[in-house]
Amino acid sequence: MVRVLFVCLGNICRSPMAEAVMRDLVEKHGLTAQIKIDSAGTGSWHIGEPPHSGTLKKLKAMKVSTSGMKARQLKSSDLDDFDYIVCMDESNVQNTREMLQAHTDAKIFRFLDLTPHKKDVPDPWYTGDFEETYSLCVEGCEVLLDKIKKDYALI
Ligand code: 4NP
Repeated sequence: MVRVLFVCLGNICRSPMAEAVMRDLVEKHGLTAQIKIDSAGTGSWHIGEPPHSGTLKKLKAMKVSTSGMKARQLKSSDLDDFDYIVCMDESNVQNTREMLQAHTDAKIFRFLDLTPHKKDVPDPWYTGDFEETYSLCVEGCEVLLDKIKKDYALI
């Protein structure tokens, strides 16, 4: 089992978007039994809440399931419980490394550094642009899945 955790600040806009998109993609590739996916926020404000209405609306329009998703905060056991800790922006990377007391580039990295964009995923909490976030999540998840398949020799 390969385990992937997406991390953002509130765990209601960007990381749940990436989690749902990745789960959908993994299912389409027939790899649901091999890859576990979750998300968390470095902040505590939205614990227990469903994803933001803008994230839910976009995912619903794209027929991507959001069933059972609830915000949670990053916790120290996440370091051992996940193989990839994929952060939405550079501040999430810094906060995650501090909270988990881990300074590993291999395990904790910025999502779009896997892509030619090499930038933060813009936060729709501030931009209001859930379309842009969705497109970047799709692009990032495709590259991430390719990387996981190579790293773990999955077919
Ligand atoms: P997210 O967006 O990190 O993509 O979930 C945010 C959600 C909530 C807040 C900030 C960012 N907030 O300040 O409550």
